[in-house]
Amino acid sequence: MKGRRPRPLDDGDSGRDKGIGSIKLGKTNDKISALITPRFIVRELPIMTIISKCTAATLKDAASSLVAGNLVAFPTETVYGLGADATNQSAVTKIYEVKGRPTNHPLIVHIASINKLENWVRDIPEYALKLARSFWPGPMTLILPRTDLAKDFITGGQDNVGIRVPAHSIALSLLKEFEAQGGYGIAAPSANRFGKVSPTSVDDVQAELANYLSPTDLILDGGLSLVGLESTIINCTDVTPIILRPGAVTASMINDLLGIQIEMISNATTIEIKASGLLDSHYSPKAQVYLSGSPSPGDGFIALSKHPTPDGVIRLISPKSSVEYAKNLYMGLRLADRKKLSRVFVVAPTGDDIAVAICDRLQKAAYKV
Ligand code: TXA
Ligand code: MG
Repeated sequence: MKGRRPRPLDDGDSGRDKGIGSIKLGKTNDKISALITPRFIVRELPIMTIISKCTAATLKDAASSLVAGNLVAFPTETVYGLGADATNQSAVTKIYEVKGRPTNHPLIVHIASINKLENWVRDIPEYALKLARSFWPGPMTLILPRTDLAKDFITGGQDNVGIRVPAHSIALSLLKEFEAQGGYGIAAPSANRFGKVSPTSVDDVQAELANYLSPTDLILDGGLSLVGLESTIINCTDVTPIILRPGAVTASMINDLLGIQIEMISNATTIEIKASGLLDSHYSPKAQVYLSGSPSPGDGFIALSKHPTPDGVIRLISPKSSVEYAKNLYMGLRLADRKKLSRVFVVAPTGDDIAVAICDRLQKAAYKV
């Protein structure tokens, strides 16, 4: 386990609280130390711990920390999640506080395997079981009618709950260890402030949340997220499934499995399900994202590598495929903010694969309030 790590000196987020609780360490502290008289002592303020090498022992500690009611940010194959014991109301309340998220937005409960599904949900349609058997562990969340274990503080008062088995060795080991210690599931939204871009690396989690986490909270480092976009969310509370949020498990993969034409939420008019990912504005960097128009010198640019960079424009990412685009998109949007760009022009990918999810996130990132 690593010692306390200072938060980054330039996290690119000028909007966050820079009060006494966020005195910078490292270089800035040296400067402060040189200026102050010996009467004042500048100490390192305790902040959360980052575990950079996850071993069986550190994951056991992390699971115990969850059982004790602390928060643990952990890697998944989609994006990093901010985890808490899904049955512990005060721990779950901390998630909402740290994210600055409205409490009526439900959380996804992560479990170690399909065998534990019935702890959380009931009346599982046959098609949902097929989906779970085919795509778990993996980047897919199923919304199903809840059991009594899923309390209002998880579901935002809805009678259903979102469940996912993630496909990341650290996430799965943490979940298994948590269950071995008596836990039922880990509630985890993406580990970013509400409405912001999801983190795909441990540095992103730090940049988003270091000022809000407590000394007892942990961040587990699992490298870069493989998929880079949040899970596909499928409503399974009705006779037919509906995609609420597109992701790496695509409509055509679902159609092939179930032999149906699955609907997307944008085509469904009557569904009464709350999902913050369904808000028009979400996944937003500070820079304004444009999906059309021509960039001027000094603007940021995101497009597949086959599109040349216009003169004087700052290339943020240059992915060779839609899969690579998904993996690097949030990195590119964050880079725009670190470079303090005010405008990013994007050429969205086309196709019915993960390009659909990329376009969904880009439209939300580009939304003007
Ligand atoms: O890939 C992911 O899904 C990541 C990783 C950490 O698992 N998690 C994630 O969580 O993206 P979050 O909270 O940032 O986004 C989940 C979305 C939210 O828009 C939430 O409102 C919606 O899923 N959601 C959760 N439970 C729901 C439910 N019972 N009914 C409808 N929407 C739900
Ligand atoms: Mg999120």
